[in-house]
Amino acid sequence: MSVPDIRTGLGWDVHRIAPGRPLILGGVTIPSEFGLDGHSDADILLHAVTDALLGAAALGDIGMHFPDTDPQWKGAASAKFLEHAVALVKQAGFALVNVDTTVILERPKLKDYRLAIRESLARTLALPLDRVSVKFKTAERVGPVGEGRSAEAQAIVMITRG
Ligand code: C5P
Ligand code: MG
Repeated sequence: MSVPDIRTGLGWDVHRIAPGRPLILGGVTIPSEFGLDGHSDADILLHAVTDALLGAAALGDIGMHFPDTDPQWKGAASAKFLEHAVALVKQAGFALVNVDTTVILERPKLKDYRLAIRESLARTLALPLDRVSVKFKTAERVGPVGEGRSAEAQAIVMITRG
C-alpha cells in the first residue's frame, strides 16, 4: 500500500516589542502605539507561515534562505519571503492544503483585523479564504509576551503532492 504524500510543517517566531515601529501582522498594518523590532518588517505571522511551509517540504528555514546579515533583506516586506517559500514548495511539486495560525500578543486587540489578515495571507498564498485561519491569544499577563515585551506567532500548514 502506498503512503499518501501529505506533509505538515510547523513554524514559530518571536520579536521584541519596540516603540516607534509599525505593527505588521500577515502583511496588514495594525494601528498601535508600538510595533515589533527586527531587521526586516518584523512580521512574525508571515515569518511563522514561511517557516511552516519550508518545514513541510523539508527545505530548511527562513534564516537559511534570507540571512538577516544580508543587506538585500533589510526592511524587506516579509511577503517577499513567503512568496519565495510558496514558489519553492510548488517547484518541489506540492500544492498547499490549508494554513492555521495563532498570534500571541497582549495588546492591542486584534480580532477586528482577523478578516483583513486572512484575506492578505490567502492572497499571498493563493489559497481560498476558507483554507486560511488566523487566531489570537493573550499570554494572560505572564512571561515576556504577557508583560508586553514581545509577541509570538505559530503556524501549521498542510501540503500534498499528487
Ligand atoms: O488570550 P485570551 O484567551 O484571553 O483571548 C480571548 C480572545 O480575545 C481570543 O480568542 C481573541 O479572539 C481575542 N484577542 C484579540 N487580540 C489579542 C488577543 C486576544 O483579539 N491581542
Ligand atoms: Mg521574524
